[in-house]
Amino acid sequence: MKKKVLLMGASGSGKTSMRSLIFSNNPASLTARLGATIDVEQNHVRFLGDLILNLWDCGGQDAFMDSYLTTQRSTIFQHVGVLIYVFDVESREMNKDLEYYRDCLEGLKQFSPEAAVFLLVHKMDLVREPKSLMFDKKYKELQKASGDMVITVFGTSIYDESLYKAWSSIVHTLIPNAAILSKHLSTLAEACNATEVILFERTTFLVIATSTSEHHSSSQFSSSTNLPSRTTTNMSASSTDEPVEDSHHLDPKRYERTSELIKAFKYSCSRVREEFRSLEMELSEFTAVLDEMTRNTYVMVVVHDPTIETAAVKLNIRMARRKFE
Ligand code: GTP
Repeated sequence: MKKKVLLMGASGSGKTSMRSLIFSNNPASLTARLGATIDVEQNHVRFLGDLILNLWDCGGQDAFMDSYLTTQRSTIFQHVGVLIYVFDVESREMNKDLEYYRDCLEGLKQFSPEAAVFLLVHKMDLVREPKSLMFDKKYKELQKASGDMVITVFGTSIYDESLYKAWSSIVHTLIPNAAILSKHLSTLAEACNATEVILFERTTFLVIATSTSEHHSSSQFSSSTNLPSRTTTNMSASSTDEPVEDSHHLDPKRYERTSELIKAFKYSCSRVREEFRSLEMELSEFTAVLDEMTRNTYVMVVVHDPTIETAAVKLNIRMARRKFE
């Protein structure tokens, strides 16, 4: 099953940078060296066995944009599963950016009316005024420009975990059996007496599913026109429907922070020509085991019960593997 993901936005807004962080394991510091994308660059990423993401990174210079909207219109906008449109929060040409965005929405409505639309207000690290105020302002502006289109907006930056949060949510909408995966993860969590079990995609380390059913329930900067429960822009938002986690005071940003940290660790391993395989952490409060689940996934089991042995957790992971293949 192939899902086409269009990555669009003005030149310099940061599309190739985020692609290189998420899909190629490069650090943010190297993105300054990236050249402008010429026309469209396509990537294929195998997610979960038969799900393939076909990512189209569309160079944002005006000449390319004009061509996507005219001669290449049907090629670009047909069979799209998700449109991700990136806006530079500091753009000096917001009116022009919005005009192109509206034109792209028209193309999308014409050829892929079912596609989901995600908007990223990117480079949030550059914002000086209170970030939540700026995000709210941009969100309203984008909502207005989107008309009756259902949109989900995230504030992102390549310098923190917010990018993983946004991309995990996006990818999550493309996974057809996410609910079944969550159910299997809950069973594994019960077997290990774990607080939580999380499934990551191997290359990107994006969160695919967790043992707690709704893992996108809280966020720093995200707003959606279709899911009122997620219209949270409060910086310290936390979920209320996860009683087990609450008793351990788990950080609402733990998923995206883990993705970011493991990606950085993997990069360090590659610098010393080592390959990352698995990780065990025994801290005073909890134990965490991160291990391969399938060819395309990693699983993390977090246990707060001190009587549970790490070896037992690893054995349970091994026995759970065939359920996920
Ligand atoms: P085209 O290929 O021309 O369409 O541009 P693009 O959207 O792919 O932009 P690119 O990824 O090449 O990024 C342009 C510049 O923005 C690079 O110098 C990046 O380092 C920088 N950049 C990307 N993301 C961020 C971010 O979150 N914060 C900051 N401060 N800079 C960023």
